[in-house]
Amino acid sequence: MPSLLNDLSDIVSAAFTELGLPAELGRVGVSQRAELGQFQCNGAMPAAKQAGKNPREIAEQVVAKLAGHPMLAKVSIAGPGFINLDLSDKALAERIAAVAADERLGVPAKDKEMVVVDYGGPNVAKAMHVGHLRAALIGESLKRLMRFSGDEVVGDVHLGDWGLPMGQLIAELELQHPDWPYFAEGNGPFPAESPVSIEDLEVLYPQASGRSKEDPEFLEKARRATAALQAGRPGYRALWQHFFDVSVARLKQDYGALGVTFDWWQGEAAVNDLIAPMVDELKAKGLAEESDGALVVPVAEEGDKKEMPPLILYKSDGAVMYGTTDLATIVDRQAKVKPNAIIYVVDQRQGLHFEQVFRAARKADLSPGTLYEHAGFGTVNGTDGKPFKTRAGGVMKLGDLIRMATEAAAARIEEAGLAKDLPEAERADTARQVGLAAVKFADLSNWRATNYIFDLDRFVRFEGKTGPYLQYMGVRIKSLLRKAADQQALPGALMEPAAAEERDLVLHMLRLSDAMERAYERRGPNEIADWAYELAAAFSRFYAACHILSESDGARRASWLTLSATVLKQLELVLDLLGIEIPERM
Ligand code: ARG
Repeated sequence: MPSLLNDLSDIVSAAFTELGLPAELGRVGVSQRAELGQFQCNGAMPAAKQAGKNPREIAEQVVAKLAGHPMLAKVSIAGPGFINLDLSDKALAERIAAVAADERLGVPAKDKEMVVVDYGGPNVAKAMHVGHLRAALIGESLKRLMRFSGDEVVGDVHLGDWGLPMGQLIAELELQHPDWPYFAEGNGPFPAESPVSIEDLEVLYPQASGRSKEDPEFLEKARRATAALQAGRPGYRALWQHFFDVSVARLKQDYGALGVTFDWWQGEAAVNDLIAPMVDELKAKGLAEESDGALVVPVAEEGDKKEMPPLILYKSDGAVMYGTTDLATIVDRQAKVKPNAIIYVVDQRQGLHFEQVFRAARKADLSPGTLYEHAGFGTVNGTDGKPFKTRAGGVMKLGDLIRMATEAAAARIEEAGLAKDLPEAERADTARQVGLAAVKFADLSNWRATNYIFDLDRFVRFEGKTGPYLQYMGVRIKSLLRKAADQQALPGALMEPAAAEERDLVLHMLRLSDAMERAYERRGPNEIADWAYELAAAFSRFYAACHILSESDGARRASWLTLSATVLKQLELVLDLLGIEIPERM
């Protein structure tokens, strides 16, 4: 189905062309002033400028051409030459009927591209923090959105598993357990069972990192251990494998609880073997050079506004860096799927890093034609305006956060007198769904680059622009459809809108494809989150104005039931793209 705005633009553009004016000036958008019309075209002003004429005169000529068009009920001019348009109710009814019958609910699929979304980015042995939560939520949503739009999408978690923290852990364990077999030179054998659990690692890592800060000698040991690990020392590799395995097991649990899934569980380490040949290639192409004992790729370009340090491939001790593994990962992805685009959903404070990586990758032509994009996001702050911490001042662990959100949701559900008659297990599950929706919607309804304040009490409210409000609206429609079915009232053919509230609702429903397109273009789930909130609000006004179940005209009632069922489908679709489930009842 073509989008409504595109169709309207085509109609108005044709009028412009007939008048010898540039077609692109006939672009139609949603009206800024709903009282003047549903849609507007502002092309008469630039057209007048080009033609040296009066804009009002041009607008009048365009309006004359549009008069009587079957899709339009009203065409008028406001101010200096704004052209306002109203769709005819007949056109509205035809369009919404097509949406109701469309599997994709009025959203056309785009041409398929191969896309890798790199998101999550947790670090082995380190607890995930709210920054990682944002990466997971935004990345998962973009993955779903792009998939629905028609792309083939691979989600890759890109674990941080190859840097200094690994050497720090090894050095710390060597200090605590010098007798373990992993620390002897040689090939083992090494135990199959991990001597450290994820809980051990969560204690060990802060110990090791604290010791590195206090003790330069320890830090030096950790550096050497990192380089030796990367070079392949068998005992270190065996120990590292344990770190990796216990961490991934926990991460799968944590992400699973969030409804976030990855196609690839690749880490930095997975591309280690690609690094040496890649570096050879970079050298052969004359792109890598020695600098203070390190090997680097200069990436500064003429006209750079800020300083652009070179990307470091090898440090002087032979260890590889964050940029090295990111470059080799591009080589790997090219070999595996030849992506049209790689989208990195990572904290925007890593902008410089990605600029270095992208420049080096383009210079070396590591994956010809691939678009590299850093879809950066802002910081989550506490109600005090500072980066979000727990009450104790530490970083908030994901599991704790989900528990807190579930508890807050349960309290709010109770307070609102909802879910009273549900069995205990269903009530608990509803609280979980509502808690997650609260956190996810609060995050995704902000433009991703904007910092926001983590205010759980506000997020779990059933009123206002919140996830629970949207879920509640979905639950109400489900219950309406159940009641109708009980009364043997069946959905039927869609009719022309009978009330202003119904017309507004239908108009909004017809804009889903535009919201989806904006979300896709901007890599911004907030575009569809906003749309969903407006949908719920429009439905709520319609529902208050039009009493569906008590309507005596059977055809009218049937039309309203179809409309309500279609609202629910659209809401379910969009909430699913945001990772939010609608409970059956509440
Ligand atoms: N592990 C990194 C961090 O915690 C994020 C990784 C992001 N992805 C990437 N390809 N560099 O900051």
